[in-house]
Amino acid sequence: MHERVVVVTGGNSGIGKETAIALAILGATTVLACRDRAKAESAAADVRAASGSPDVHIAELDLADLTSVERCAADVLARWDRIDVLINNAGGIWSSRHTTAQGMEQTFGVNHVGPFYLTALLLDRLRQSDAGRIVTVSSFAHRAAFAGIHWDDLQSEKRYTPFGAYSQSKLANILFTRALADHLSDTTVTANAAHPGPVRSGFGMDGDLSGVAGWGNRLFRPFEITAKAGAATSVYLAASPEVHGASGGYYARSRPARMSAQARSDAAAARLWAVTESLITEAGYHLP
Ligand SMILES: NC(=O)c1ccc[n+]([C@@H]2O[C@H](COP(=O)([O-])OP(=O)(O)OC[C@H]3O[C@@H](n4cnc5c(N)ncnc54)[C@H](OP(=O)(O)O)[C@@H]3O)[C@@H](O)[C@H]2O)c1
Repeated sequence: MHERVVVVTGGNSGIGKETAIALAILGATTVLACRDRAKAESAAADVRAASGSPDVHIAELDLADLTSVERCAADVLARWDRIDVLINNAGGIWSSRHTTAQGMEQTFGVNHVGPFYLTALLLDRLRQSDAGRIVTVSSFAHRAAFAGIHWDDLQSEKRYTPFGAYSQSKLANILFTRALADHLSDTTVTANAAHPGPVRSGFGMDGDLSGVAGWGNRLFRPFEITAKAGAATSVYLAASPEVHGASGGYYARSRPARMSAQARSDAAAARLWAVTESLITEAGYHLP
C-alpha cells in the first residue's frame, strides 16, 4: 500500500480505527474522515503510535450534513492528488428518530445518503488510480430488512424502529455497492461491501441506544469479536491482491458471503440509486 492514499470514514473509533491502523502498517497514506476534530486528532495520534507511520491525517466529515460532505471532499481533493481507496465505514444506530441537516432520517442519511454523496464527489479521483477500491461497511443485519427498502416510507416518518431503520440502511449499503460496481464496470475501480461480524466497538454505545435495545446491545458484548478482528474484511477488500478486479460483492470473514434476496435485486439497486440522486439534488446539492 506504499504511495497509496486511503480515506477511512469514522476512522476515530472501533472498526474504522483498526482498519486505519492496519492500512497504515501496510504503508498507506491514511486519512481519517471524522465528525469530531478532537476525537479525530487523538485517534490519529493512536494510529501513528500503533502503526509506526507518521503518514496519518485527518479530515472533518459529518455525514449528517451534505454541506460537510462537500467540504470534506473538497478538502481531501485539494490535499491529495490521488485517492486509491475509500472506506465508507462510519455508521450508527439510534434509539429515536432524528433528522440530518437536510431533513432526512438520520440512519438513512448518515449510513447511506452521506456515503453515496462522498463517493460521488471522490469518484473521479478514484478513477485516476490504477486500481481504485471502494469498500462500504454493511452488516449481516441487512437480512433483517425482510420487506426490502421501505419505498413508501424511506425516511421512517410513518414508523420508526432503530433496528428497522438500521437494517434498511445496511441493505442500502449493499444495493449501493452493486449499482456502483455496475456504473464502474468499464473502469478499473471496484466496489465491494463488507460485514465485519458482531464487534465490541462503540456501536450503539454513548447513549445512541437506550432502553431494551441498549440493554440488548450491552448483553451481547462479551461474546463479540474485537474491533481489530472486525476490521479484517475491510482491510482485505482494501488491500489484498486476491480481490484485484473483483467488484459488486458482499464479503464476511474475508470471503464472499451470501447476501439476502432483497440485496440481490437489480431493480432495487437501480431504483435506490435513482432515488438517492434525486434526494441529493432536490436538497440543492450538485452531483458530478
Ligand atoms: N459493531 C458491530 O457489531 C457491527 C456489525 C456490523 C456492521 N457494523 C458497521 O461497522 C461500521 C463501524 O461501526 P463500529 O462498530 O466501529 O462502531 P463505532 O465504534 O460506533 O464507530 C462508528 C463510527 O461512525 C462515526 N459516525 C457516526 N455518525 C457519524 C456522522 N454523522 N458523520 C461522520 N461519522 C459518523 C462515529 O463517529 P463518532 O465517534 O464521532 O460518533 C464513529 O467513528 C458501521 O457502519 C456499522 O454499521 C458494525
